[in-house]
Amino acid sequence: MSRPVPKPGILDIAPYTPGKSGAGVAGRVFKLSANETPLGPSPKAIAAYKAAADHLEDYPEGSSRVLREAIGRAYGLDPDRIICGAGSDEILNFLAHTYLGPGDEAIHTAHGFLVYPIVTKAAGAKIVTVKEKNLRADVDAILAAVTPRTKIVFLANPNNPTGSYLPVDEVKRLQAGLRPDILFILDAAYSEYVGKNDYECGIELVATSNNVVMTRTFSKIYGLAAIRLGWLYAPAHVVDVLNRIRGPFNVSIPALKAGIAAIRDIAHVEKARAHNDKWIAWLAEEIARLGLHVAPSVANFLLVRFPDEPGRTAKEADAFLMKRGLILRLVASYGLPDCIRLTVGTEEANRLVVAALADFMGRKS
Ligand SMILES: Cc1ncc(COP(=O)(O)O)c(C=O)c1O
Repeated sequence: MSRPVPKPGILDIAPYTPGKSGAGVAGRVFKLSANETPLGPSPKAIAAYKAAADHLEDYPEGSSRVLREAIGRAYGLDPDRIICGAGSDEILNFLAHTYLGPGDEAIHTAHGFLVYPIVTKAAGAKIVTVKEKNLRADVDAILAAVTPRTKIVFLANPNNPTGSYLPVDEVKRLQAGLRPDILFILDAAYSEYVGKNDYECGIELVATSNNVVMTRTFSKIYGLAAIRLGWLYAPAHVVDVLNRIRGPFNVSIPALKAGIAAIRDIAHVEKARAHNDKWIAWLAEEIARLGLHVAPSVANFLLVRFPDEPGRTAKEADAFLMKRGLILRLVASYGLPDCIRLTVGTEEANRLVVAALADFMGRKS
């Protein structure tokens, strides 16, 4: 029977599988599978969100102006060069739909964020996957993969799920090696966590070039994943074209209000960063002490590699942790079948994970 058929490429997309939520697990559950913050959002953001409930009949101001101004003040940026979206995912979608079409190619790295292939294929283009070196993006390999059809290069910096980052010199070298008509998307979703002095989130490169954009999110350190809020800093010509395809009211009033309050609450962000610094170091050390390989991470999660031995595999560890209400993330879909990603949690959750992993590794198989 005849029926509507999606355009070519759509059925090649593997649907995104989010981190498990814990539904169906008996007892207390600690969700450490989606890189959310254990501290939650600023109480001021929650209050602003609740206050917005009094006027749900109103449309938002379409350009997110007040939020763009608040972001501009916080980072010293021109609000006219910012676009807000329903999560940075929406913005990544805008970019792919704007700059990619059939016959075009977009490059991402082997263990890069899964949304890049999805938005690329949804736009009818081909995704080109480039090998990483020691779980880190390899600038030379990316440059070698560029063809006359390349239109976009995606780079998460820091990268999810590896937790690795490219220092500013490497990012600049990559940009310098790209043709000026290739859009270089720097996804800085975890940048607020990075404490390295050779790291730069992308602001400088966006400001000084015509083909670089930076995406950011309120889902991670700001603790607002539920409301779906992200933003983009880009050259004026990119902002102009994205404003043509953006839904006229793509960010809701509760999200705008919560975002404005969150970005002003610097003390809350500092608290979240300090918590992360303390516990990521502790977790990395304790887990390594159990004989497991832990990839160095500058973000709010750790990638842990498990042995390829019956009784000790990542899959078995995940099932073992799950029984204790500890929900982590298997990352086979990121090309890392022997690894689990662990988001830094509360002190209680972190201690429970280490105790559970110690029991798992100590069992007789
Ligand atoms: C690298 C990276 N980019 C973007 C996102 C999406 O963030 P948002 O919640 O703003 O859509 C995530 C979320 O996991 C991520 O890990």
